Amino acid sequence: MYQDPNIQASAELVAAARAHNITLDPPRMTAEEKEQLLRTYHPDYREDQFELLQVGPNKGEKVPKELAALLQGRSRIDPDKLDLDEPAYDVDVLVIGGGGAGTSAAIEAHQAGANVMVVTKLRMGDANTMMAEGGIQAADKPNDSPAQHYLDAYGGGHFAAQKDLLAKLVTEAPEAIRWLSDLGVEFDKAPDGTMITTHGGGTSRKRMHAAKDYSGAEIMRTLRDEALNRQIPVVDFTAAIELILDDQGRCAGAVLMNMETRELKIARAKTVILATGGAGRLHYQGFPTSNHYGATADGLVLGYRAGAKLLYPDTLQYHPTGAAFPAQIFGALVTEKVRSVGAMLINAKGEAFMNPLETRDVSAASIIRECSDRGNGVKTPAGWAVWLDTPMIELKHGAGTIEKRIPAMMRMFGKYGIDIRKEPILIYPTLHYQNGGLKISVDGQTGVENLFVAGEAVGGIHGRNRLMGNSLLDIIVFGRSAGQHAAAKAQSVTVGKLTLSHVARFHQALEEAGVDTGKISPKLLPTYNSLGKDF
Ligand code: FUM
Repeated sequence: MYQDPNIQASAELVAAARAHNITLDPPRMTAEEKEQLLRTYHPDYREDQFELLQVGPNKGEKVPKELAALLQGRSRIDPDKLDLDEPAYDVDVLVIGGGGAGTSAAIEAHQAGANVMVVTKLRMGDANTMMAEGGIQAADKPNDSPAQHYLDAYGGGHFAAQKDLLAKLVTEAPEAIRWLSDLGVEFDKAPDGTMITTHGGGTSRKRMHAAKDYSGAEIMRTLRDEALNRQIPVVDFTAAIELILDDQGRCAGAVLMNMETRELKIARAKTVILATGGAGRLHYQGFPTSNHYGATADGLVLGYRAGAKLLYPDTLQYHPTGAAFPAQIFGALVTEKVRSVGAMLINAKGEAFMNPLETRDVSAASIIRECSDRGNGVKTPAGWAVWLDTPMIELKHGAGTIEKRIPAMMRMFGKYGIDIRKEPILIYPTLHYQNGGLKISVDGQTGVENLFVAGEAVGGIHGRNRLMGNSLLDIIVFGRSAGQHAAAKAQSVTVGKLTLSHVARFHQALEEAGVDTGKISPKLLPTYNSLGKDF
C-alpha cells in the first residue's frame, strides 16, 4: 500500500485493469513511429544539451555539455614539472580500471605471460559490471546463431555499429559464456543442466544468460577471484590522471595519483589498456543514474588528451526502468529482466501503452512521452513515473517466480515496504550507459599506438543504442581480446623517452581557441557536496 493517496489511487487502477492488460500483446511500433518518437522525446535529441568541441581529435563534433567541459578541461598536473625518469612501476601491460573489462584483460595478458599490473581508483570490482543485473547475450542455442544476434544488435543500434566490432562481439559470444562458466560463473540452468535463456528488448531469440538478477556481480566475483588466484598486482585507490607517451608518440604509461594522499607516481608500460567504464555519474541533463559511483568518463578524457578519437560521444542510453520511488533508490536499475519475465509498462490510468520489449531508446522515449505530452504519468515526490506491473509475473508464471528469477529486485523494493509480488512499482528512465566512447580497431587499439581500450569506454560496438546483455558480453569479448593483443604487442616494444608534451600541447590548443571550461579533468569522483566542489 502506497502512503501517498494519489499514488495509491493510481496503483488501484493498475490492479483493476491487470486481468485485462495481461491478455494484451501491444503491437511493436513501425520504424517511422519509432523515429518520430525518438526525435521528439529522447534526451539525445535535445540540441541545447550538447556542445561542439573546439579542440582535439573530434573538433567540430557535438558531445553532451557536461562531457565537453571535461574533455576540454585542464590537466591535474603541470606537464613541465613532473619527473618521468624514475618510474615507480615498470610493466609490460598496464591496465587502467578494475571492472569486468579491465580484469578480463589482465587475466588474458597474464595468461600470455606478460608482466601485467592493474591500477584502479577505487577497488577491484567497484564498477558498472558489479551493478549489471539482467544478463549476458550469446547465441548458443540450436534455434539461434551469431548472424541472428548480429541482425538484432545492428538494427537495435540504428545500423550504426562498427561492423567488424559487432561481428567479433557476436561470433565470440558463445566462447565468452564457456570461458566464464569454466572460471566458475553460476549461470541459471534447467534441471537437465542446459542454460536458461530469456528475451531482452529487441532480441528475436531467447539468448540472455543470467545468474538470477545479479549477473554482473556473479561475473565480477569470478573474475576477481581469478585475478587474485593468479596474483596479478593491483594498485587500488589510485587513479590514472594522465597518459604518458614516449618520444615516438606511442602510449607508454600513466601518471598515477593516490586517491587519499594525492601522491603522484609514474607507471611505465609497453602497452596500456584503458578500461575505465562509463559516465553516468556526470548526470547528463540532470538525470539520475544506475551507474557505479566511479563512472565519470575518465578514460575518455585521458584518451582524448593523448590524441585518441571518440566515436558517437553524443549518444547515451537512458535505461527505461530506473526506480522512481522511493527516493532512497531513485535512479537505481530495475532490470529489463522484470519485463522479460512478464511485467508490463502501465500508465497512471491503468493502460498498457507500449510493448514492454521495444528497444531501450524507444521504451525510454515512450515513457517520457507518457509522462509529458500525454499527461499519463504518476506524480512522485521526485517528478513523474509510470508503473511496471510486477504482480503480473506470478499471474503468468506461478507463485515463487519473482523470488527465483529476480530476487535482487524483490529485496531492493522490500527494504522500503514494497512487495513487488503484490504491488506494481514506479519507474522512469535513468542514465545507464554511454553508447559512444573511444574509437578502436578490431584488435582494441586506438589511433594512438600501444593504447588499447575495452569495455564501456569503447565507442562503436553497439552503434547508437545497445541491447540489454550486450555490455556484459562486450567487456568479456573485448576485455580478453585487448589483454591478448596488448600482451602480444608488448613483446616487440622498446619504450622510448617518456613525455607529457601532448598535455602541454593540449593546454596550448585550449588557450589558442580561447576555451576555459573552468574544469580540471579527469573528474574521478562525482560532485555531491553542498559546495559543488570537485574532487
Ligand atoms: O536491465 C538490465 O538488466 C541491464 C542490462 C544491461 O544493461 O545490459
